[in-house]
Amino acid sequence: MAKARKRKNTARARAGSSSKRSSRGSSPRAQDAIGLLKADHRQVEQWFGEFESARSDSRKQTLATNICKALKVHTQIEEEIFYPAFLEATEEEDIHHEAEVEHAGAKNLIAQIEASDPGDEYFDAKVTVLSEMIKHHVKEEEQSGGMFAKARQADMDLKGLGEQLAARKAQLMNGEERDGNSVGRRSRSSSVVSNVR
Ligand SMILES: [Fe+2]
Ligand SMILES: [Fe+2]
Repeated sequence: MAKARKRKNTARARAGSSSKRSSRGSSPRAQDAIGLLKADHRQVEQWFGEFESARSDSRKQTLATNICKALKVHTQIEEEIFYPAFLEATEEEDIHHEAEVEHAGAKNLIAQIEASDPGDEYFDAKVTVLSEMIKHHVKEEEQSGGMFAKARQADMDLKGLGEQLAARKAQLMNGEERDGNSVGRRSRSSSVVSNVR
């Protein structure tokens, strides 16, 4: 998924109620929360793969910038919207807390990558280690018995959450960091670890 521009998220934010179970993916609005989050995972995996074979510094920089931006938005919408809903519905504290701690580790490395550039001797190593961390984290979310599987079993409104995630994602991709209610409500996106004992 390239830059999720404004599309029709706001227009369709309230329009999903009539399509309760149409998760066949016939239109973007049919994407539920898990479909949206998995699509993000696939996009970032593709960029990590391209980074591995990239030769020029400018290509590496572009890919690293894309990866960091996408991961920051992805982790933020998970933490603001999906994870709290998951915890509330399943009470799976171990899975939830481990995911948040993994996010915190990834964000630390993302900040280091953003503060450096391909001229830095450690730049490639940082991107490679981030790739490994994310691979592990995505597996935890997607594997059988993992977070997404448990979310599917639980009584969660995945359709409605998908709409919320899409709207918030579009906002963040457009740099409207301060616009969302959720940010003010849970200003914890970069201090997860301090909330975790
Ligand atoms: Fe994820
Ligand atoms: Fe995650």
